Amino acid sequence: MEELSRILEKAVTEPKALSVAELSKLVSLSDEGAVREMRSAAYELKCKYCGKVVSMRGIIELGNICAKDCFYCGIRKSNLNVERYQLSLEDVERLARINYEDDYASIVLQSGEIEGDAHTEFIEECIKRIIAVAPPGKEPLGITLSLGEQTEDVFRRWKEAGADRYLLRIETSNPKLYRKLHPHSHDFERRVECLRMLRRCGYQVGTGVMSCLPGQTFDDLANDIKFFGDIDVDMIGMGPYIPHNDTPLGKIAPYIENSERLRLGLNMISAVRLYLHDVNIASTTALQALADDGREQGILAGANVMMPNITDTKYRGNYKLYENKPCLDENAEQTRKSLELRLKNIGEAINYGKRGDSPHFMKLE
Ligand code: 5AD
Repeated sequence: MEELSRILEKAVTEPKALSVAELSKLVSLSDEGAVREMRSAAYELKCKYCGKVVSMRGIIELGNICAKDCFYCGIRKSNLNVERYQLSLEDVERLARINYEDDYASIVLQSGEIEGDAHTEFIEECIKRIIAVAPPGKEPLGITLSLGEQTEDVFRRWKEAGADRYLLRIETSNPKLYRKLHPHSHDFERRVECLRMLRRCGYQVGTGVMSCLPGQTFDDLANDIKFFGDIDVDMIGMGPYIPHNDTPLGKIAPYIENSERLRLGLNMISAVRLYLHDVNIASTTALQALADDGREQGILAGANVMMPNITDTKYRGNYKLYENKPCLDENAEQTRKSLELRLKNIGEAINYGKRGDSPHFMKLE
């Protein structure tokens, strides 16, 4: 316990102060008292840098057509049990209007990974329309893209069209583990290079990993956090791996209690907050899949962003990256009301009307 207090004290004094061994120690905590001590130190830092508010980004799941075949993901190319869909520009425009009405001030466009001219132009047009439908007197939404690996030229075109941020999870920073989770054609180095390209293009850059992956160690996770610091990202989105039955990994993944997956997911949030201090950290839907109040617990562990789903409910069943994905039948208005109440219960409020840019990125400008 004394050692933990020493690590926490060092962590809060300045960013990037901890060694990989110390980060590993934090991530591996399981004693209830120790976990509580770490979470409250991380939550204090969250409040210091971001206030007692949570920034919202309505997320549109644009489509589930995917060229990739990641062994863990429910919408992988080879999963023939998924009905593929693609939203239209009109859908995107309509959902963006809902986001303006909700006053979330930021939006995320996510889809399966596709490359090609038609897709590039479609996204460009989505971005332009989201900006064009801003109601009079309202600032256009902050636009985050989560559309996988692309060429630098494409990243630049989307940035010039008006996108602000890009999320591209590295999934794991251990190249050996990466190779076990993906077919050989999925190149770890290209993914890292994409993160560098995004930075060059001027995006606020986000990355992240899954925890609880088969074969992953606490040291791997500690190295993931070090990796985030080394490439100097602005935003983090992480969540525990949750098996999906129609995937190769889902079929062989060992059974792990939900409570354990949740604890590790929350430990990662706290350790990242304690290491990086001023980045945006999302409390992801995967946490909510593990416990009804998983995302609130994420906030109390140090996260400051939530990404409520605003996709029409009829499509949500086809965007199941993992089993038990929550909120499949809740519309945007119900989601907003319930989130507002849930946050109020933990003494937090929605950061209405604010884009909630990464404090880390704003400092660089
Ligand atoms: N469990 C948890 N997260 C998953 N993702 C994909 N499949 C799963 C799964 N089975 C995450 C990946 C991806 C993000 C969009 O969803 O990290 O980057």
